[in-house]
Amino acid sequence: MLKLPTWSSIEQHAKTAKDFQLVKLFEDDPARAETFRLHCAGLHLDFSKNLISEQTQKLFCALGEEAKILDSAQAMVTGELVNASESRAALHTLLRTPHGEQPKQLDSNASQVSDALKQMKSISGRLRDGDWRGHRDNKITDIVHIGIGGSYLGPSMVDEALTTEALPADTSNNIACHYVANVDGHHIHQTLASLNPDTTVIIVVSKSFTTMETMLNGKTAKKWLEDAMPASALQHHLIAITSNISAAESYGALAENILPMWDWVGGRYSVWSAVGLPIAIRYGFDKFNELLEGARQMDKHFLESDLSENMPFVLAWLGIWYQQFFSVTTHAVIPYDHGLRNFSEHLQQLDMESNGKRVTAMGEQVACDTAPVVWGGEGSNGQHAYHQLLHQGTRQVTVDFILPMQPRHPLTEHHDQLVASCLSQSQALMVGRSRQQMPNLEPKLAAQKEMPGNRPSNTIVVDKMSPYSLGALIALYEHKVFCQAMLWQINPFDQWGVELGKELGDNIFDAIKGDAIAGDAIELDGSTESLLRHYLALRAKT
Ligand code: F6P
Repeated sequence: MLKLPTWSSIEQHAKTAKDFQLVKLFEDDPARAETFRLHCAGLHLDFSKNLISEQTQKLFCALGEEAKILDSAQAMVTGELVNASESRAALHTLLRTPHGEQPKQLDSNASQVSDALKQMKSISGRLRDGDWRGHRDNKITDIVHIGIGGSYLGPSMVDEALTTEALPADTSNNIACHYVANVDGHHIHQTLASLNPDTTVIIVVSKSFTTMETMLNGKTAKKWLEDAMPASALQHHLIAITSNISAAESYGALAENILPMWDWVGGRYSVWSAVGLPIAIRYGFDKFNELLEGARQMDKHFLESDLSENMPFVLAWLGIWYQQFFSVTTHAVIPYDHGLRNFSEHLQQLDMESNGKRVTAMGEQVACDTAPVVWGGEGSNGQHAYHQLLHQGTRQVTVDFILPMQPRHPLTEHHDQLVASCLSQSQALMVGRSRQQMPNLEPKLAAQKEMPGNRPSNTIVVDKMSPYSLGALIALYEHKVFCQAMLWQINPFDQWGVELGKELGDNIFDAIKGDAIAGDAIELDGSTESLLRHYLALRAKT
């Protein structure tokens, strides 16, 4: 990015932009809110409360052209090996492309996607209709979805986000979905304790089918089934979603109950695949299709819109602008929607596992900050907690507010208050409160009450939260992360940084299993060794 010709012009421009005052920018241009606004797939991005001018946008669009962002996007969606370090394609967009509309060279991949969708439709339909029976011929009432990272965050977040989706009048086919990720035994233990094995199906989701947490939780869940039924009955209670078919069969799932994952779809982009099966089970396959359709519309917008009107690209360059020139290192995503209360967890994996990297795809040091620390939580709860820091803290934090316009409940006054809360927060960040506005206060107190203002934010207005708009929203952030990666010239589709911890974890686990730091067979630093010895000593007593 820093080597692209327009970058030096952006640096020059930033010197004047540092003096931008948001309130003044609005005074000078009454049409500003219209200028910096985009629409797509039921989402409206208001990015007018940013420290930018039309010149800023023009320069970043030129930078995006130089970086050939849209050419790179084409390379991604047409199946080039954009994940070069693993020699893989990144074809999550194909998962939401209607069969027949794919590029010719992806015919075989598209057929696999289509077959997987049929399998999802059939399994989710049978479970919902009560045709899938437990070993005692009971209807299935509960699903336990076991997975971690992308095999967990996407489906659990979407499920939670749609909780308030109107369910069919006949709710007799509702199935409760429980999600277990953590290897902390409390989670699986508590989840299973409340369920009846005769009416429960376990879904083990792991692309590799080797991930420690998922394998152990899967083993524990299988043991729970085995304790309640003969081995021959397990097949009625197990589904696996993986690219490692033989391991899933050894685990005990019938071939027809194993759904595919592919090495050409990254875990954090996999909610659109069979990984999203619980969504189809809980809400019906049509709703799952609506989710895909929303994402599809965002894909089309991203691939076909000019960079100046390209929502993902706009979010991408704004992030880079603040990191580079305003020392912003953390980005908060604050949805004013209870269903999206864990949206930022999904974004953390998407953004930080994709772009939390320090070298380019060519192995060179990146000469600037890459992925921000992404965090957030639901509004208005945060207003009574961390918003203090957003308004008066020493650190600059950029914020995306997400605001659905129509509620999915009948309590109008609640929604009016929610909307007022959200709008007032971005307004307060922008306008602040000066000491001059508090002339009667003694200076010491006035200093503490002063709010600097001029703090930027985006507001993403959603007409109404639905599977369609949620699909568009998730895809918006996927493409934002992709654009930033292209500007930083890093590979967003690998995650080598998580490997070392896994290897060291295996070593330490072996030492624990051997109940000793066997002949000092593993090399440990003083701190880790002393912590481990402490654990072993306690473990020996229990
Ligand atoms: O450890 C990181 C990671 O590989 C993620 O990228 C992935 O989503 C997660 O682990 C789970 O992997 P799997 O689906 O193979 O169990």
